[in-house]
Amino acid sequence: MYKIAVVPGDGIGQEVIAEGVKVLNALEETADVSFSLDYLDIGSERYLRTGELLTENDIDDLRKHDAIYFGAIGDPRVAPGILEKGILISMRTTFDQYVNTRPSKAWHPYTPLKEEKDFDIIFLRENTEDFYMGAGSRFSNGKGVSLDLKRKLYDAKITVSMEANTDDEFAFEIGMMSRKGIERFADYCFKTAKDLGKDKVTAVDKANVCTSLYGMWREIFKQKSQEYGIALEHMYVDAMAMALVRAPERFGVVACPNMFGDILTDIGAEIMGGLGVAASGNISPSGVSMFEPVHGSAPDIAGQGKANPIAAILAAKLMIDNLGRRDLGILIEKAVRKAMDNKDLTADMGGHLSTKQTGDAIAKYISIV
Ligand code: NAI
Ligand code: MG
Repeated sequence: MYKIAVVPGDGIGQEVIAEGVKVLNALEETADVSFSLDYLDIGSERYLRTGELLTENDIDDLRKHDAIYFGAIGDPRVAPGILEKGILISMRTTFDQYVNTRPSKAWHPYTPLKEEKDFDIIFLRENTEDFYMGAGSRFSNGKGVSLDLKRKLYDAKITVSMEANTDDEFAFEIGMMSRKGIERFADYCFKTAKDLGKDKVTAVDKANVCTSLYGMWREIFKQKSQEYGIALEHMYVDAMAMALVRAPERFGVVACPNMFGDILTDIGAEIMGGLGVAASGNISPSGVSMFEPVHGSAPDIAGQGKANPIAAILAAKLMIDNLGRRDLGILIEKAVRKAMDNKDLTADMGGHLSTKQTGDAIAKYISIV
């Protein structure tokens, strides 16, 4: 029995998660598995009603589960950033979900790449460090500005020699990683490669320019590669962006620092077939992980039965894979493939079905694939 915390959230999050749950129920009927689902009311509606984002109570509740199945958050009535920081980022830090995983496989004919390109990539992105720690500032050294450059930089714990007596305006953002942070992430990458039978890990960086930061990254990945006996390939992020479009079939497990991973996984989503099929997991290897479609709450189509539920259904697959039942993950993927072959799809993928009808079709295929 797997205990799943279900957080449908806002907008189409509600609609697509209902279809993912349908598929989980279909699995229970077909295979030897059972889920106990607890619904949590977290999102913009509650925030507008009570001012609560992610409360201590929520955290205690979530902690009692094996995984979190999440729809989306986002509401035009709430200022950008509030829900993201207060719910998503907060969940990520609370549960130390330090790996973001996003599979990218060719969903023909929905990939914009050539038909014959078959690829199956697992992007793993370090989720807590690098340039996304919020260690930055913007300031001016000119008249009337009280903070001086040297003190600001000192506060940010860096020492540089720079001409400080200038009227210019400055801004900086620090990319910082810890040995522990890279080691635990690299461990996860090589373990994943081993589990999935991939013969190498591709580690992305920009070590030719950001030599300190990514120099350490390279050194640690090299050590871990020897430790695990799995080959390692280094790629510069710019070359990687090109290679992903030209020859995605060359890659298996792709390990990225936080910021480059943010960008490359969007390329990964697009070459696979776009937002309608892109799923993501925020993994806490020894804690509670969270699985969600990559898309947001799509207020433009919410409540109209137009949302494509496949990304949410593939997020459920990712969740089940991570709970250790890859056999069931394969079932879900086959059912989705069958829906595509039969054109049981929503309009964004060229079909004529509603969200619910698409979910029904995929749930039905679970028992016959
Ligand atoms: P979005 O992903 O919600 O929508 C972008 C475009 O793609 C829209 O035209 C939408 O109709 C379409 N779309 C998205 N998912 C679809 C689906 N399943 N089926 C068919 N069409 C789909 O991104 P947008 O519009 O930038 O953001 C809307 C709200 O969602 C904002 O409040 C934003 O902050 C939030 N958001 C939340 C995320 C999360 O919860 N992880 C991720 C991205 C955005
Ligand atoms: Mg992004």
